[in-house]
Amino acid sequence: MAVEVINVPEAKRYEARQEGETELAGIAEYIRTAELVAFVHTEVPAKYEGKGVGAALARASLDEARAANLRVLAICPFYTGWIARHPEYQDLLCVNNVRTPFTALDEQSADNRRFLLRHIEVAAQLPTIRRVRRRALEAWDLQDPGRLLDVGSGAGEVVRDLAALVGPAGEVIGVDNSQAAVDFARERADAAVVRYDQGDALALPYPDDHFDGVRCERVLQHVVDPDAAIAEMVRVLRPGGRVCLIDTDWESMLFDGTPQLGEAYRKLAPALPAATSTGRTLRRRLVTAGLADVSAEPVTVAITDYAEAAALMSVVDRAVLQGPLLNLGETAEPWLAEVDRAVADGTLLAVLTIWVVTGTKPAP
Ligand SMILES: C[S@@+](CC[C@H](N)C(=O)[O-])C[C@H]1O[C@@H](n2cnc3c(N)ncnc32)[C@H](O)[C@@H]1O
Repeated sequence: MAVEVINVPEAKRYEARQEGETELAGIAEYIRTAELVAFVHTEVPAKYEGKGVGAALARASLDEARAANLRVLAICPFYTGWIARHPEYQDLLCVNNVRTPFTALDEQSADNRRFLLRHIEVAAQLPTIRRVRRRALEAWDLQDPGRLLDVGSGAGEVVRDLAALVGPAGEVIGVDNSQAAVDFARERADAAVVRYDQGDALALPYPDDHFDGVRCERVLQHVVDPDAAIAEMVRVLRPGGRVCLIDTDWESMLFDGTPQLGEAYRKLAPALPAATSTGRTLRRRLVTAGLADVSAEPVTVAITDYAEAAALMSVVDRAVLQGPLLNLGETAEPWLAEVDRAVADGTLLAVLTIWVVTGTKPAP
């Protein structure tokens, strides 16, 4: 008997029924953003197993995703397995989620660009980020630096802070692949030794062995090929120079007292921008790139303040979840209501680990 599948957006699921029947023969639950549809759970009751219900759900929903120009995340094992057996659907998959709004900031709408740059600037003021930056500066352990480079310099405030380290004869450069970020940083530049260039981490516009120190903070999670970017940073570093990488381990993010938020994050993580474990991979990447004296420090932060949580974690930020970046609308309400309650009674707790990893370029 033929299986009919309909999309029920208000329930965020596809429903399958056998032709002429009203009883549900199966469902496929999904989360949809402006660019993505994530299939999170599929269920076919035992009496309908073996009747092609799962296949009908997969085919109908994936055809619709294609027609709507959506990328697909197969979170539920049924979708993962089914797509693996049907190569004609594999081009829909985002294999990993390396394309984030920060991957190519200039391709974002003007509103999103402004929102994201402002977001970087606000984050820089947070106690969490200041603490991580202090630890990073200590671990970087620069001795009398003359030339420093910040890769993916964003709003540019670290470059400005480093100006004091190199003195008037030195040079600190921030490089970012976004012209909008470079313009934003230039407007705020205040020291002659500071410069901002437009350039890609994957092809840095500097000669070999040029800098005494290169740093890169919360950028590699957005870069398509982090190892290639690291190779570039090592190339432009002089022998004996120091590299410092900082990145988040999004899989380390935990909450207490907000079970729906925890569950939403577990389901949503693959669909959220940059929800990767880049931080913990940095030590391995530097060792593999041939750096000496590699040290790796996990800086774990406990966040109890809503503004700070929202600035660091998209999953609690209304503006990201319900604004043009993710467009989740009402889907996010249950866990945002839970967050509101935790904020009101003072029990909000989110825990996150950010890694600081350093190494020295060996002499040839
Ligand atoms: C989350 S922001 C971090 C900015 C800054 N490092 C900070 O810690 O505040 C990521 C930055 O990396 C930049 N970016 C992303 N991919 C890049 C690439 N391939 N090359 C250079 N910059 C890149 C983005 O434009 C953005 O400014």
